[in-house]
Amino acid sequence: MDVILSEAAPRTDLDLAIRVERVSHAFQTPAGTPVLALDDVSFDVPRGQFLALVGASGCGKTTILNMAAGLVQPVAGTVVVNGARVTRPSRRTGYMFARDGLLPWRSARRNIEVGLELRGVPVSERRATGSRLLDLVGLKAFGSSYPWQLSQGMRQRVALARTLAIDPDTLLMDEPFAALDAQTKLMLQTEFLRIWERDRKTVLFVTHDLAEAVALADRVIVLTCRPGRIQADIAIDLPRPRDPERIRFDHHYLRLSERVWQALKAGEAAS
Ligand SMILES: Nc1ncnc2c1ncn2[C@@H]1O[C@H](COP(=O)(O)OP(=O)(O)OP(=O)(O)O)[C@@H](O)[C@H]1O
Ligand SMILES: [Mg+2]
Repeated sequence: MDVILSEAAPRTDLDLAIRVERVSHAFQTPAGTPVLALDDVSFDVPRGQFLALVGASGCGKTTILNMAAGLVQPVAGTVVVNGARVTRPSRRTGYMFARDGLLPWRSARRNIEVGLELRGVPVSERRATGSRLLDLVGLKAFGSSYPWQLSQGMRQRVALARTLAIDPDTLLMDEPFAALDAQTKLMLQTEFLRIWERDRKTVLFVTHDLAEAVALADRVIVLTCRPGRIQADIAIDLPRPRDPERIRFDHHYLRLSERVWQALKAGEAAS
């Protein structure tokens, strides 16, 4: 592993949000030959850290998120979230999938409130949280609109608000802004950072967009391709609060982006 700038290790278990320890995973294929998706991957995520995972398509990024979410069990190694080995989905973890996955028969507000409803939160409390989050993601006037009446950017905002509604300790995000045009993406990145910088939840964020990874994260892990291994672990020591639009012209940002890019190329060459 090429550790360019490593993060300080968490001091106690309480400082540790996620531990991925010696995880390997293979999937069965219809042809019968297993595909080794991840090979001996280990990393710790301190509480409150914004970690981006990047790597070529098929290198196992979503598989890592699925493991942290309790949807996939690794064939070897362990994934610990908030002090407990993950064996099933937890209420303390929010997962925003690559596709928005909104329920078409529910309005924006009722999509945002769905997790609270499932938990039996009283209506008045649900409504209050729904209103606060609609406001937070700039959709105050669209609470009664259905997903098909919203643009892709608006749908992503609803999906983000739905993930935040359950007030998770840990956020897993799989290419949450990938389907957006450049301007909408920048706007949502800025909004998300503003929200995140207020209470700094632990974030595990998967993206193909290196500029996005460097602009948003505290740290970027670059994976090699099939099987996924850690190629580089790069600390993004840019000051906060950050403005994703303006930071693109910062010299240090450009240097860090170049490092991530070089690591990605090296990771592809290694596989
Ligand atoms: N359910 C599955 N059954 C069989 N193989 C799978 C399954 N899920 C993932 N894989 C394989 O595991 C590898 C990693 O998949 P994964 O979805 O984690 O990659 P990824 O890094 O998220 O890719 P992308 O950037 O394209 O989303 C791929 O080779 C894929 O074919
Ligand atoms: Mg994926």
